[in-house]
Amino acid sequence: MNNIYVWDFPTRLFHWLLVISIAFQYVSTEILDDAMQWHFYVGYWILGLVLFRLIWGFVGHVYSRFSAFVCSPVKTFNYLTGKDEKVYLTHNPAGAWSVIVLLTIISTQAVSGLFITDDIFLDGPYHSVVSSDFADAANWVHHNVINALWAFIVIHLIAVFAYQFKGHKLVQGMVHGKKQTSEKEAFALTPGIWWKCGLVALISFAVIYSLVEVIPPEPDFYDF
Ligand code: HEM
Ligand code: HEM
Repeated sequence: MNNIYVWDFPTRLFHWLLVISIAFQYVSTEILDDAMQWHFYVGYWILGLVLFRLIWGFVGHVYSRFSAFVCSPVKTFNYLTGKDEKVYLTHNPAGAWSVIVLLTIISTQAVSGLFITDDIFLDGPYHSVVSSDFADAANWVHHNVINALWAFIVIHLIAVFAYQFKGHKLVQGMVHGKKQTSEKEAFALTPGIWWKCGLVALISFAVIYSLVEVIPPEPDFYDF
């Protein structure tokens, strides 16, 4: 058996920062009082993380690229029905689709937040530029898509721990980056990757900062 380096540090850091940030979004709305400003900031941060992962999915290390794991519905069906018994180093076909679904739901949740209001002090940065019907629809999305997110997180955890109990050390893989396999194929961190990672992070967070701080109109002030 070989220990192969599968998850590069940027992908692992992305994953655990995302976990902490989503947990904070739950705590900020369901447990803490007066944390809505932080709920907004962490929501923007999550948008930055997701954008980072999307770009990294094209320019990151080989196993982190979407091209390494996203596959056709037929291949996924064969995998789910047991016709394909290959052991995958990167995400398996079902896992690959769950990554896409999770990232899509999280983006929808965060983007819908940009158009809504807490009806007390805080408006999302684009609340004032959309019609009240649109804001109501975004509000509906924000309060309902969250249930799909919780459901998929539970499915994600059940799947990860099911593999774990079957002997695939996926959780350790997401911590130290390595997976055990009989394949000999391996890759090392290429020099310059940190520059690439820093540049992708800078671009992602600059884009989100512009979208939420620079481009939106000044907020309306209420007359008391
Ligand atoms: C808020 C909760 C969570 C979310 C939103 C989430 C989301 C994700 C995403 C998007 C990926 C794909 C990583 C990538 O390629 O970029 C992933 C993979 C993974 N996650 Fe999570 N995750 C959550 C919680 C957890 C927890 C608590 C654990 C472990 C205890 C975990 C273990 C894993 C593992 C092992 C993988 C890699 C699976 C594989 O090897 O194919 N996740 N998760
Ligand atoms: C992925 C990121 C986000 C997650 C997971 C999330 C999660 C949540 C949750 C769980 C609630 C409570 C829903 C309920 O009680 O039914 C909520 C409410 C809310 N969120 Fe988010 N949110 C995110 C991003 C954002 C962003 C980016 C903004 C604004 C820019 C935002 C603004 C709000 C507002 C205004 C409320 C309504 C509070 C109220 O009903 O009084 N959220 N969010």
